[in-house]
Amino acid sequence: HTPELTPVDKVPECAIAVDVLRATSTMATVLAAGGEAVQVFSDLDQLIQVSESWPAEKRLRAGERGGAKVPGFDLGNSPLDCTPERVEGRRLFISTTNGTRTLQRVQDAQTVIAAAFINRGAVVKYLLEMQPQTVWIIGSGWEGSFSLEDTACAGAIAYAVIEQTGLPTDEIAGNDEVINAIALYSQWQDNLLGLFHHASHGKRLLRLECYEDLKYCSQADTLDVLPVQKEPGVLKRY
Ligand code: MLT
Repeated sequence: HTPELTPVDKVPECAIAVDVLRATSTMATVLAAGGEAVQVFSDLDQLIQVSESWPAEKRLRAGERGGAKVPGFDLGNSPLDCTPERVEGRRLFISTTNGTRTLQRVQDAQTVIAAAFINRGAVVKYLLEMQPQTVWIIGSGWEGSFSLEDTACAGAIAYAVIEQTGLPTDEIAGNDEVINAIALYSQWQDNLLGLFHHASHGKRLLRLECYEDLKYCSQADTLDVLPVQKEPGVLKRY
């Protein structure tokens, strides 16, 4: 495996989209809670249009912009709202500022996965079993810029793969992004919530009184669920 953060090839065999705060944490939570699928959109109008064709009792519309819930939608982007009572048997139609766009950008890869800290173990297990030849780990960041929490999560995935395979360090030498991500994760692995407090989007969410979301998203390996793309833009439990 060669996990990378800055893609140069057209598409990898396996693309892992990361938006720890909070889109991919929400997606993993929905599927773990019995949601039928998660369908991602960059455009809110398109989401409304496509979801119209779905039975009302089988759908939920989630919309987030700038960290806040889009008025008129059933949900914003808080994983804590995605309880089994709310999501079981339903499809989540979701559009967020960055995370759903990232998934759309890589939808042509052979395998597309949504990853966060909460399902890191399931992602690593998949990589070790399937051994894809090229892997990108794509941090969603914020409107095109770097984010601490997504980079640390990419590092957490790479760190575990290296630790569990005993991959020689010269295999990753020269991949500055992945070395940087592993270093960031190594420094903060025992205090991910503390790292989120330093992150610009962590601060934004704290201003929006989403402390409980930060806390939830900072837990590692709590959900054994792997959201995998089944058709373009539609993720289901693997
Ligand atoms: C995003 O897609 O930008 C995020 O998930 C924003 C959020 O925290 O809701």
